[in-house]
Amino acid sequence: MMLQTTGAFIFADQFLQLSYFLPSNYIYGLGEHRDTLVHSMNWTKFILWNNDQSPKVTIINHLSTAQLQEVILQPAPAITWRTIGGVIDLYMFLGPSPNDVIQQYTEVIGRTFMPPYWSLGFHVCRWGYKTANRTMEIVERIRRYGIPQDTQWNDLDYMDHNRDFTTGISTFGNQTSLVEELHRLGMHYMMIVDPGISNSAGPGNYLSYDLGVKMDVFIKNASGQPLIGVVWPGPVVFPDFTHPKSQEYWTAIAADFHKSVSFDGMWIDMNEVSNFVSGSTSGCPSDSHFEEPPYIPNVSGGKLIYRTMCMTAQQYTSIQYNLHTLYGLLETKASHHFTCPSVYFRALTTILGKRSLVISRSTFAGQGHYGGHWTGDNLSTYYDMYKSISAILSMNMFGVTMVGADICGFSGATTKQLCQRWHQLGAFYTFSRNHNSINRPDQDPGAFGPAFAESTREVYLIRYKLLPYLYTLIHKSHMMGDTVLRPLFFEFPTLVDTYSIDRQFLWGPALLISPALDLDQYTVEAYIPVGYWYDYYTGERIIGTGDRINFTTPLDKINLHIRGGYILPARRSGLTTTESRAYDFGLIVALGVFGEARGDLFWDDGETLDTHEKGLFNMFTFSADQNGVYTNPEFIGYKDDREYLNNITVFGLDKQPYAVTANGQSTTYLYNKQYKALYITNFLLTLLEPIKIAWKFSDE
Ligand code: GLC
Repeated sequence: MMLQTTGAFIFADQFLQLSYFLPSNYIYGLGEHRDTLVHSMNWTKFILWNNDQSPKVTIINHLSTAQLQEVILQPAPAITWRTIGGVIDLYMFLGPSPNDVIQQYTEVIGRTFMPPYWSLGFHVCRWGYKTANRTMEIVERIRRYGIPQDTQWNDLDYMDHNRDFTTGISTFGNQTSLVEELHRLGMHYMMIVDPGISNSAGPGNYLSYDLGVKMDVFIKNASGQPLIGVVWPGPVVFPDFTHPKSQEYWTAIAADFHKSVSFDGMWIDMNEVSNFVSGSTSGCPSDSHFEEPPYIPNVSGGKLIYRTMCMTAQQYTSIQYNLHTLYGLLETKASHHFTCPSVYFRALTTILGKRSLVISRSTFAGQGHYGGHWTGDNLSTYYDMYKSISAILSMNMFGVTMVGADICGFSGATTKQLCQRWHQLGAFYTFSRNHNSINRPDQDPGAFGPAFAESTREVYLIRYKLLPYLYTLIHKSHMMGDTVLRPLFFEFPTLVDTYSIDRQFLWGPALLISPALDLDQYTVEAYIPVGYWYDYYTGERIIGTGDRINFTTPLDKINLHIRGGYILPARRSGLTTTESRAYDFGLIVALGVFGEARGDLFWDDGETLDTHEKGLFNMFTFSADQNGVYTNPEFIGYKDDREYLNNITVFGLDKQPYAVTANGQSTTYLYNKQYKALYITNFLLTLLEPIKIAWKFSDE
């Protein structure tokens, strides 16, 4: 492929610019920012600079060289790429399909990490659960409504004076018992950790500070003194995650806290790095061309140091000017290595020794290899709910599969209807967390009464039921780099109408999610791609022609369609994934236009590290035709004796069968003539051996 330039390559100190004509008007990605999924080519400008700021139109938080970049899309179509420093390495991934491009990209930046199974459950959080007791009351109220929940979180409230890795026992109460109680319920616990370490606790009172000083791992200012900023605890210093000793330091302080609070994952925030005094408490050098480079794009606050540290701040490998956007990625890596140690790291005995979850606000290319992301401080508005779809789809293109937005919105007061709709959508984020700001009314799913709770329960029961399918997609992403949450054009690259769809999305190839996203919206006009699709609830077949179809969508419903030709592994939901794992599997078979379907299931214990690499997993394949459904154990390396199949639903079986057998034994079935759906139950067969479910038609 030849790219034609639209102007000279400009190569100056602190200013590099490339401009090319583009062969397409369809441009995606370019880092995290607030925009439509496909970008407008009408002089749209993106600034790539991590910043503590709520999502606004065309603000970017993520990507490529660590120095500030600016990208301008032009109608020609053309692109101009500017950076104020760094080394430019251009990689071109030619696909040919969109999915191939992401596979090739993640081969370079690192495949996505394999999350623990529990982290696919529902997460509940807020800033303002002021005590351990209040936190537990929320958990109990959600459980009373029968809504599945796997993980409870705490924000700053748990800390002593907002200091990382401390518990404010007199204010928050007993965090140790809270976590023990959650574990007893088969649940998990995560809490916030900010990078700024308070320097005012006094000598001998605060390990995180004292040890950092001793190990000399804090970022320094231009004069070689620790750079002091201000974040939630007041004055703070910042760990330098490029420092060779930073991993040992981070592990030591996290492990020390873990001795009393056995958290299961880390929520790392404010890591752009955010600083409430721009620069430092003592300012920044005024005569530096790094603080005031000759060219500064229109960044927030008009200055590079706005709400972050001085550009001349010194880190082990370079100055902040060169490293700025890497902070979140490197902190994620250190946190991941603490929670999910590699073989090398397991030598330290202070670690969890199993898979874990690290969710970071700031990211860079490669984030998905170590952790996930939430999209930051969104607003409780319908617009923000809609925008979350482009955000999660883009992050999947960046190789970050564990991603979600704050369900019901963070800032501002949500409303009952918005929050109900948002749970319906959020139940299909890979990382599904309800999170709320301080001093706002409660918005957990137990806060709005029984009807709300019931519809939220229903949608999470669906999520939990389909987790084996989601987990298998995540495993494919981990091994081969596929996206998990997927725009429609990834599956239908020849259908131009799909290129700009950002109100619908897919789980892998086979589950189409078409949410209601507007106030008082009770009809969703959804694009249905060519092929057979089946209503998730009834099995009604829709013959997709690439047109839009209106679906009635009452307040308690989200439109879900299963694509013909696919088999989805499922499992009955419990109140937690821990409980669900005790139940038997089922299959949802959606027959394709030729009366056939295929699917697979990756299964392991959900928490041991590197199960694929160690062969501690099972892989099953499924197929179906007009006469039956067949399962096959392709690889058996994990034997938990819990892998039984006890039900199959077949959508799109045009004729009514008169007898159904499971491995030769006749079994119970029900056929719905209206929707041509067959429900086979009352058998119990191990998936560890091949299974044949067969039916006969009366005219045979
Ligand atoms: C930041 C985070 C938000 C968190 C708050 C308090 O605004 O983005 O999620 O609740 O800080 O820690």
